[in-house]
Amino acid sequence: MNLTEIRKIEHLDICLREAVETGDPLFEDVRLVHQSLPETDLEKVDTSCEFLGKKLDLPLMIAAITGGCEEAGRINEALAQVAEKKGLAFGVGSQRAMIEKPELTQTFSVRSVAPSVLLLGNIGITALKEVSPERVAQAVEAIEADGLCVHINPAQEIFQNEGDDDFSGCVDALARLCAAVRFPVVAKEVGNGISREAAELLKGTGVRAIDVGGLGGTSWTLIDSLRSGKDSSRYREWGIPTAAAILEAKGASLPVIATGGLRNGLDMAKAIALGADLCGIALPFLRVLAKDGIPGVEKYVDGLERDFRHAMFLTGCKNVEKLKNKSVILGAGLKEWVDQRNLDG
Ligand SMILES: Cc1cc2nc3c(=O)[nH]c(=O)nc-3n(C[C@H](O)[C@H](O)[C@H](O)COP(=O)(O)O)c2cc1C
Repeated sequence: MNLTEIRKIEHLDICLREAVETGDPLFEDVRLVHQSLPETDLEKVDTSCEFLGKKLDLPLMIAAITGGCEEAGRINEALAQVAEKKGLAFGVGSQRAMIEKPELTQTFSVRSVAPSVLLLGNIGITALKEVSPERVAQAVEAIEADGLCVHINPAQEIFQNEGDDDFSGCVDALARLCAAVRFPVVAKEVGNGISREAAELLKGTGVRAIDVGGLGGTSWTLIDSLRSGKDSSRYREWGIPTAAAILEAKGASLPVIATGGLRNGLDMAKAIALGADLCGIALPFLRVLAKDGIPGVEKYVDGLERDFRHAMFLTGCKNVEKLKNKSVILGAGLKEWVDQRNLDG
C-alpha cells in the first residue's frame, strides 16, 4: 500500500468515527418568502434541472468522497447506484491514487452501475503542475467520466504532513489543463469557500463551473490535523461560509455548485435561491451508507427531495429555474458579509 492509499483509508475512518464538521454555513441567515397562493400542485412541482448538458431529477450531486482502496471502491459503487436510481450527479474522490497506481482504477469505476449519471472525476490543483493534461485526460476517460473536478485546498494542505503547500503556478496549470481537454473542468474548494476574487481568476482559466466548497460542513483542516498532530485549532472555522461563498462566486457568472454543510432539502432550496445551480453533499452520504446501507441512502435522498419540493411549493416555484435567484431575506451575519463585500444579496 502506498501513502496515498493509506491516507484514503485514514480519511474514511476519521470521517466515520470523529466529529469533523466545523463552522456555520449561514443557511440559518437565509429565509425564503412564503407564498400562500402557489398556484401549483405539490406533486407537479418539477425538481429536475440540467447541469453540464445532463438532465438530473434533483439539483444534487453526491460530492467527491473517495476512491483508491478496496473499501473506497465499495462505497463508490453503492453511492453511484443510488445516484443512478434517483437521477443525481456523482463525483469520485481524488484520482491521484489511480494515476500513481493504475490497478486502483476499478475503485473509481462506477459506469457499469451508473450508466447515465453526470459523472465527474477528481484531481488536486497542485498535482496539475506534475501530471500532464494528457495523463489527467486518460484518468478521466478511464472511468468514462463526463468531466473533472479540480479540488483547490490550500488550508487542508497546510495541516497534512505530506501536504503540498506550494500553490505558485496553480492558476496557469489549471488554464493549461482547460485549454487541452475537451471535457468540462469544474473548480472545487473543499470547505473554505471561493471568494469573488478567486472566482474571477478561475473564470479566466476556462473552468466551466465553480463548486464553492464553503465553510460549515466537513472540515479538512480538522481531519488532517487529527492525522498529522499539527495544531489547527485557530483555523477550524477559517473560510467563507457556504451561503456567503455562493454570493461571492456567482459574481463570476459561471454555473455554481453549493457544497459545504448542506444537510437537508431546505438548505438546498436556500442555496438555489441564493443563485446556485446545483447542490453537493458528501459526509452524510458516507455516514448513512455505513449505518443503513443502500436502502438508508435512498431514504435520505427521498427526504432531501421531499423537503426541497415543499420549499419550492411554498415559494410558488413550479420549476427550479423559478427558484433560482428568488428574493430572500438575509439574517444579520450574512447581511453583514454581503454589505461589507459589496455583493448582490
Ligand atoms: C471522506 C471524504 C473524502 C473526501 N475526499 C475528497 C476528494 O478526494 N476530493 C474532493 O474534491 N473532495 C473530497 N471531499 C470533500 C467533499 O467533496 C465536500 O466538498 C466536502 O466534504 C463538503 O461537503 P459536506 O460538508 O457535505 O461533507 C471528501 C469528503 C469526505 C467526507
